[in-house]
Amino acid sequence: MHRAIEETLRWEPAVQSAARHATRDTEIRGVRIAKGEVVHCMLGAANRDPAHFEAPNLFDVRRSNAGDHLSFAVGRHFCLGAPLARLETRVVLETLWAHCPGLRLDPERPSAPCGYEFRKPNTLWVEWDA
Ligand code: HEM
Repeated sequence: MHRAIEETLRWEPAVQSAARHATRDTEIRGVRIAKGEVVHCMLGAANRDPAHFEAPNLFDVRRSNAGDHLSFAVGRHFCLGAPLARLETRVVLETLWAHCPGLRLDPERPSAPCGYEFRKPNTLWVEWDA
């Protein structure tokens, strides 16, 4: 369960980027950034960095380093609600599985996440065994 939640966070983060203001002139891999400029740090892209995550486009609940994702950002503005978000996800999944045996996605009505900030599927059709 723990790895499934972390892999889900890595694979499709609800927040795709975090904005930062440069506190000084700097250069990153040949790109000059002036003091005061806004930098959009692409969290979703970092989560699929092939230098860090093997086969990054693969959703793998057994991935041992899934928790290295940046979906809650990093540094002093690290998401204050990260432990609550993780707990809520666990409680929701455990409750759904307890009450809806065989819970699965409806293959007839697929859905995909969309949006940039607060990325999510607009609908999620599921079915389960009565
Ligand atoms: C899966 C769910 C969530 C995701 C992916 C998420 C993601 C993020 C990210 C990426 C940031 C950093 C933004 C930045 O640095 O510019 C952030 C900040 C923050 N989040 Fe979340 N968040 C989630 C759930 C929650 C929940 C449940 C709460 C509170 C109940 C919460 C409260 C906050 C607060 C207060 C900040 C600002 C922290 C600061 O600026 O010091 N988040 N979140």
